[in-house]
Amino acid sequence: MSWEKMVFVGVIAFPRSLDTLLITYGYLAVENGKVSKRGTLHEFSEMEKVNAWSDFNVIRLTDSQFIMPGLVDCHTHAPQFPNIGLGLDRPLLDWLERYTFPLEKRYVDAQFAASVYENVVRRLLDCGTTTACYFASIHLEGTMELVKSVIKHGQRALVGKVSMNVRNNAGYYNETEKEIADVEYFIKRVLSFKHDLIAPIVTPRFALSCDEQLMTCLAKIAEKYGCLVQTHISENLREVEQVLRNNPKCSSYAEVYDKCKLLNHKCILAHGVYLTDDEITLLMSRKVSVAHCPASNTRLKSGLCPVRKLLDHAITVGLGTDVSGGDNATVLDAMRRAMDVSTHLEFAQGIGPSIGWKEAVCLATLGGAKALNLEDKIGTFDVGKEFDALLIDVYAANGPIDRYNHAAEKGKDAAATALVKRFVYLGDDRNIAQVYVKGIKVKDTMI
Ligand code: GUN
Ligand code: FE
Repeated sequence: MSWEKMVFVGVIAFPRSLDTLLITYGYLAVENGKVSKRGTLHEFSEMEKVNAWSDFNVIRLTDSQFIMPGLVDCHTHAPQFPNIGLGLDRPLLDWLERYTFPLEKRYVDAQFAASVYENVVRRLLDCGTTTACYFASIHLEGTMELVKSVIKHGQRALVGKVSMNVRNNAGYYNETEKEIADVEYFIKRVLSFKHDLIAPIVTPRFALSCDEQLMTCLAKIAEKYGCLVQTHISENLREVEQVLRNNPKCSSYAEVYDKCKLLNHKCILAHGVYLTDDEITLLMSRKVSVAHCPASNTRLKSGLCPVRKLLDHAITVGLGTDVSGGDNATVLDAMRRAMDVSTHLEFAQGIGPSIGWKEAVCLATLGGAKALNLEDKIGTFDVGKEFDALLIDVYAANGPIDRYNHAAEKGKDAAATALVKRFVYLGDDRNIAQVYVKGIKVKDTMI
């Protein structure tokens, strides 16, 4: 593999912390897929005078462009994409049995899986999702097709073969022994690729799909292979009731997982809408992360997740699109939904301050990177990090944002900030001109 040496010159945006977003004019150099240098425009010019950039591809950003870290989707279901926008008229448990399990059953057909997954990975990269944490289906070969598509298209990903051993009306589950053998075999196969952009993730679907024996065993497998674990928690009130009824010895939903040793710093839990204060304290002490999925929480009428409260308790939070409970595959949409839900919670319940646009950028990049234990590699443009990035063109031809001759933002710095704000509030995939994963260009509309 030989990487192109590149240097971007213009507006550079990336989070420093939840509420500090750095937006500067400068240069950012990429060598061997990593950020090798960053500095001011003046420093760039001085180095230019001594021919320091002679073997670099110099990319001069226009006054409508900026670069930012790639978006991280901490929770999505690749096999559910054919149902996107459909079947959202039922609450979670009915929706699963009526629409979702029957569709996921089809992925026993590896050819069907391959055709869907090719499209899903391509679509997500075009929308700027440089890292995705996927649930696939319960099928080993079908899930390998997702791994193959991710590798083919150059996305960074965690891929989970979904584990389920509790019977359901759709007949969508595995016997326990087969399930355990398949998970271990799947992990070994993915690890055998020694591909640094992809990792297997242990994926018990949720406490109503897996019994204690299976979950305890999955926790041991995760530890043995150093894998992360993902599942769902406390998304819907009927779900919570049923989990507590099935586990009378546990005082909470989180305790069911904790008893099986699933909760630790390598665990990412989706939703967490109805977590009690004791559960939040438990998750904090176990250093568990949460994937906030505002679109599906609203579409399936599950509830409003008090993200500010989780953040105030020092829980690491990333964003999830949660297709197809969520109706939109893009992290940009999840950012806006997170801001909206948080605003509604502030109005209705006084849980505030609501998530602002800078915080939304952080949750979608650095927050996701932390939640997936990838903070040492991605999430910011610090020197040494791998270059997962988006080149945004705010006034792209045929894009959603019109340019008016109206200098509302006075001065260069305000103009740079306005570019980022407009993209966050109004942008879509048409504004994402280029996408890079570890310094490799995986989307380019500028050619
Ligand atoms: N809980 C268990 N499985 C699922 C799923 O596929 N989607 C959502 N939103 N919640 C779940
Ligand atoms: Fe989900």
